Amino acid sequence: MLNHIIDLELLSFSDLQEIVQLAGKIMKNPENYSEACKGKILGTLFYEPSTRTKMSFQTAMLRLGGSVIGFDNPSNSSVSKGESLKDTIKIVSGYADIIAMRHPLEGSAKGASKYSSVPIINAGDGGHLHPTQTLTDIVTLHNEKGRLNHLTIGLCGDLKNGRTVHSLIKTMSHFEGNKFVLISTKELGIPKYIKDIMQEQNCEYVEVPTLQEAMPQLDVLYMTRIQRERFASMEEYEAQKGVFVLDREKLSLGKEDLKVLHPLPRVDEIAENIDDDPRCVYFKQAIYGMYARMALILLTLQGAKYSYSRGKIIIDNSGCVNPKCITHTEPYMPKEFKEKGGYLVCEYCDTAKKPGEKLKEK
Ligand code: CP
Repeated sequence: MLNHIIDLELLSFSDLQEIVQLAGKIMKNPENYSEACKGKILGTLFYEPSTRTKMSFQTAMLRLGGSVIGFDNPSNSSVSKGESLKDTIKIVSGYADIIAMRHPLEGSAKGASKYSSVPIINAGDGGHLHPTQTLTDIVTLHNEKGRLNHLTIGLCGDLKNGRTVHSLIKTMSHFEGNKFVLISTKELGIPKYIKDIMQEQNCEYVEVPTLQEAMPQLDVLYMTRIQRERFASMEEYEAQKGVFVLDREKLSLGKEDLKVLHPLPRVDEIAENIDDDPRCVYFKQAIYGMYARMALILLTLQGAKYSYSRGKIIIDNSGCVNPKCITHTEPYMPKEFKEKGGYLVCEYCDTAKKPGEKLKEK
């Protein structure tokens, strides 16, 4: 069985602990790992722009003694000639030993994994998930807070489209005693399926309208960018941008041992004049991300067996109701769902629908 890293939720505690611990060991003695992946090749397929994820994956593989191939602009590849995701993956998985892929459509990593002969790592699939950012975040929390449980975690900004937020909540809700404070506008609130996950895990969460209200209780504040590229129109984006800005005054309401994280890039949601406050660890976070990815690449290539639990798959050819799901642009992908609480949940993008419900034509 191949170990595709699509959704961290499918990894056990001990899997996560192993990754966090190995990242720590590599950080301490990088020279011990400088040839650990000698002769291996990482393919980086970035259908969407990236600085940190792409370069930290590339640097991670180079620091492990391996090599890197790939594209960071699909218009320079045969994707621009209409090549399907399936064909691209079939070819690249013949060249590389492991693939990190970022794509603007939700469920794309899961779709790619169906056609790959090597492990696929989801480096972000639209507004859906970003599991290696979550690994970055938990390695950061482990090192900066000393624990992954009993934390009150504030998440602020675009909680609707923020894939890093979705992945982080899904993972942290499994650790005992974590509580979430959700700070967003109504329009950019957390999706229902993430609320369902918190409820299933008996995980306490509250929704608050302002940073000021949230700050005093937080151990961690996870700021996010309002994602312009996910809005249907500039008007909708303009109405949401600049609502939440962490500045000196608001930071002064926080605890002394608060840690402020941000997956970056930022636009204007964190004032630059607080960057030197020791509580702001977002630049360190990006460095932890490189070590997290080194650990993940190494363990995956060593054949770590992650415990995926696949439920019964149901085929419903009426398809997914999410217009951003990969199954609409790559229509050969089987229309797979799982049954959950009377709903059919898309196997690719996790969108729930009522049986028989169809995508509404525009
Ligand atoms: N955090 C993150 O995913 O950054 P990039 O978009 O630059 O990769």
